[in-house]
Amino acid sequence: MKVLVTGADGQLGYELKRSCPQYISLIETDQESLDITDSTAIAAAFEEYAPDWLVNAAAYTAVDKAESDQEAAEAINAKAAGLLASACVTHSARMVQISTDFVFDGLQSTPYAPEDRPRPLSVYGATKLAGEQVVSETLPDALIIRTSWLYSAHGSNFVKSMLNLMQSRDELGIVCDQIGSPTWAATLANATWQLIEKGASGIFHCSDNGIASWYDFAVAIQEEAVVTGLLKQEIPVRPIRTRQYPTPARRPAYSVLDKQQTESQIGVIFPYWRVSLRNMLAQLIHE
Ligand SMILES: NC(=O)c1ccc[n+]([C@@H]2O[C@H](COP(=O)([O-])OP(=O)(O)OC[C@H]3O[C@@H](n4cnc5c(N)ncnc54)[C@H](OP(=O)(O)O)[C@@H]3O)[C@@H](O)[C@H]2O)c1
Repeated sequence: MKVLVTGADGQLGYELKRSCPQYISLIETDQESLDITDSTAIAAAFEEYAPDWLVNAAAYTAVDKAESDQEAAEAINAKAAGLLASACVTHSARMVQISTDFVFDGLQSTPYAPEDRPRPLSVYGATKLAGEQVVSETLPDALIIRTSWLYSAHGSNFVKSMLNLMQSRDELGIVCDQIGSPTWAATLANATWQLIEKGASGIFHCSDNGIASWYDFAVAIQEEAVVTGLLKQEIPVRPIRTRQYPTPARRPAYSVLDKQQTESQIGVIFPYWRVSLRNMLAQLIHE
């Protein structure tokens, strides 16, 4: 089976490569070899590789920048997803579109199920939702996987920012009133391969299990990094409110995803987020 991955140089792309099952022939493309906003390049890639599945791991992921760069976010997260879906129709391929917890408004206090009503608060969230919609309208058997708070040893993310800041600052204030589930990209990559193997279609939620605020996540990163020797000493970490750390994009206060359907579909229980964090830090040390 041939699987073409777009945005293969991102966090998810990196983990998809690491965990690709042997029976799959992986075709990795990055922005240079396949710009997903370019319909001619997409057509050429489908002609050349004739993939059975396409995994769209490419995205405009700069949440705050998107507020002032709406056109680019829309072009990559929504229009390009539509172009890829159309190419899948033409070439009878299946498609995986990756989406986000930021499609929700965060007003719930219990985990969001796939069928709960999305109401994005940000340009990023709105463009990702538009991407989901155009993909499922164009390709009714598309597989849409929403995830949250992604990090990996490869690329920029909250874990690596914290490790840097904890070495250069005397103390940190981290937001404690946004709650979600930190997710190692390896968990998402494994689930993606398993859902493909099952031939799944529709919307699935995938994140590591358990919940945390960004503050809890930062404290855990520091504790684990000191134990492993990645950090020499601890610095004070203070919980602060969202209003004390204003950002251009509004974020959901609560964006925990309900993963029961996904777990029963593929027969796994996703790891507890802190176990995944430990595994990612171990990988970081050995790289
Ligand atoms: N990161 C999170 O916290 C998070 C949370 C929830 C959901 N998600 C979703 O999960 C998916 C994977 O995220 P990620 O964290 O792995 O993202 P990432 O690390 O930012 O990777 C995205 C990749 O897409 C590439 N890309 C951007 N524009 C492109 C274009 N026009 N054509 C081809 N490639 C292009 C980027 O290349 P350049 O680096 O060269 O721009 C980058 O390599 C995305 O759909 C994202 O929306 C992420």
